[in-house]
Amino acid sequence: MPVAIAFDVYGTLVDPLEMGERLRPVVGEELAEPMAKLWREKQLEYTFRRGLMRRYEDFNVCTRQALDYAAQALGAKLSDEDRGRLIEEYVSLSPYPDVARGLEAMKGAGHTLVAFSNGVEATIWALLEQAGVLPLLDDVVSVDDVSSFKPDPEVYRYLCRKLDRPPSEVWLVSSNPFDVIGGESSGLNVAWLRRRPDATFDPWGIEPDLVAPDLLTLASKL
Ligand code: LAC
Repeated sequence: MPVAIAFDVYGTLVDPLEMGERLRPVVGEELAEPMAKLWREKQLEYTFRRGLMRRYEDFNVCTRQALDYAAQALGAKLSDEDRGRLIEEYVSLSPYPDVARGLEAMKGAGHTLVAFSNGVEATIWALLEQAGVLPLLDDVVSVDDVSSFKPDPEVYRYLCRKLDRPPSEVWLVSSNPFDVIGGESSGLNVAWLRRRPDATFDPWGIEPDLVAPDLLTLASKL
C-alpha cells in the first residue's frame, strides 16, 4: 500500500559535515573537520535548548549562532565576509550519491514523498532545488510553521496533519537517532538511515522499524 514518507534533510539527504571542506581554506587543515563537527553539534544543541525553553528562533539563527560559537571555541578568526559566505554555502550542500535514485525508486512505487526538516521552508526549498532533489518530492514540511524543533511531539503531529494521514500511514526516514526516536514516540513508522557503519543508535530500548545504509537499500525494504 502506498504510504507517505518524510525525509529528514541534514544528515539524511545532504551532509552538513561537508562544510569541513568549505572551512578548510578559511580556518586551515587542522581546524576544518573539528569545526564542522562542533558547528553541527552546537546547531542541534541550540534547537534542543530553544525548543525546551520555548525561546524559538529559527534554524537559520541556530546555524549562525552555532558557527559563531564554534569559531570562538576553537579560536578561529572569521571575517564578516567569511561568515556570510559560509552561511550561503550551507544552502549549497550536495546530496548523498544514493539520494536521487533512492527517491526515484520510492516515488515509482507510488509513495508520497516529502522533506521534513528543522530548516526554514524557503531555505530547504533552495537547498533541495540546487541539489536537484526537489522535482522528486511532493512537498517540504518545516517545523518553523509550529515554532518548535524536533523532537517536540508537536512537530511530528504537524507533519501528519500536513500529510492528512494518521501516524500509522507515515514513515519517517532519518539518519539522526534523536529524530527517529522522536518519530517513533509519536506513533510514526521509522527508518534509521545508518549512513556510517560506526554510527551509534541511542540505547533507549526503542528500536527503528527498519535500518538501511542508504536510500536505495531502504527502497527495496519498504
Ligand atoms: C533536520 C535536522 C534534524 O533536517 O537535521 O531536520
